[in-house]
Amino acid sequence: MAANYQFDQIVNRKNTRSFKWDHAETMFGAKDLLPLWVADMDFLTVPAITQRLVERAQLGSYGYSVRTDSYHEAIVSWYRRRHEWTIQNDWIVDSPSVVTSLSLAVQLFSEPGDTVVIQTPVYYPFYEVIRGNDRVVGASSLRVVNNRYEMDFDGMEAMFQAGAKLLLLCSPHNPGGRVWNEDELRRLGDLCLRYGVTVVSDEIHADLVHSGNLHTPFASLSQELADITITCLSATKTFNLPGLHTSFMVISNASSRRRMDQRLKLLGLRNANHFAEDAVETAFNEGEAWLDELLVYIEGNIAFASQYLAQHLPQVKTMMPDATYLLWVDCRSLGLDSRGLKELMFHQAKVAFNEGSGFGEDGAGWLRINLACPRSLLAQALEQFCEAARKL
Ligand SMILES: Cc1ncc(COP(=O)(O)O)c(C=O)c1O
Repeated sequence: MAANYQFDQIVNRKNTRSFKWDHAETMFGAKDLLPLWVADMDFLTVPAITQRLVERAQLGSYGYSVRTDSYHEAIVSWYRRRHEWTIQNDWIVDSPSVVTSLSLAVQLFSEPGDTVVIQTPVYYPFYEVIRGNDRVVGASSLRVVNNRYEMDFDGMEAMFQAGAKLLLLCSPHNPGGRVWNEDELRRLGDLCLRYGVTVVSDEIHADLVHSGNLHTPFASLSQELADITITCLSATKTFNLPGLHTSFMVISNASSRRRMDQRLKLLGLRNANHFAEDAVETAFNEGEAWLDELLVYIEGNIAFASQYLAQHLPQVKTMMPDATYLLWVDCRSLGLDSRGLKELMFHQAKVAFNEGSGFGEDGAGWLRINLACPRSLLAQALEQFCEAARKL
């Protein structure tokens, strides 16, 4: 495939109010870190999106705006084309961010003191939205089988039997990169139906699936499962737009949708962002070729990083992701605790990856590397890390 987009191009994000680049020193207490942590990309987005945002900015008047049918149609068409999932315009509920949606779902579909089930290690806000809403984390540890994560169905069933009524599913999984296959999702779905469990399915990484894998939207499996599911989605991860702070849910159950909509209204979170809808609509209508090329580049980075680590630091083990631009690396053989890993990264190697215990206890000893950057930057960060680790 001819390269139309320059993913090798270094984009200077310093001094742009970038969380990843400009906040690393405050976060990690060290200067001049190469930041391969928080999940955004060091690539320019789809040129048509930039163009549309410039036009929008040039209006010069930034009053309240409304969402149009064309915005909803762009979303519906995308999921039909890319995921063979048929949704209806009026199932879409906008929300400022997926984390907002997760937190509101916890508030609406469980009670204080309830256990909310998650599969760990997992994206750290899953813990925050449970604990911060006075619920209890029901951690079902994922099992490493043949260097891939597998669900512990018996462990989850025991928690459902004991009364847990809400599950936060991360699909595809962050940080493990697993694309859950249809059999696994159906088996999980059967359990949820049997025990009356509501499922909040965070599918923000759904579009970032690598060749040979297929993402199955949980709610697409059956009408019954759609009825118990809140699906959280966004164009922001796929097209590198998270700073626009926009997302949406798909909720086909009319009563759940109404409850969510009312809560968003009550919190003043229903208004459209002046820029976000344009970006999302353009992304879904015009971003497909960019995404396909991006995925090829990311797969190249995954191959590069895993080979580099195998060659230069063979004692660590990478979990090959089916999806996402995140590489989950088992560094337990280095014999360092969380503090030791941070010291190694931030002060000796001068790189900022995510330290694994942030994703829960069973992430201790692992590191998550964000591969959505030009390969030259990735190579430099890996070189610095391996060199420092070899001196241990
Ligand atoms: C699984 C998962 N959910 C949600 C988010 C964040 O979404 P938002 O910025 O819309 O809250 C991320 C970002 O990395 C993520 O990995």
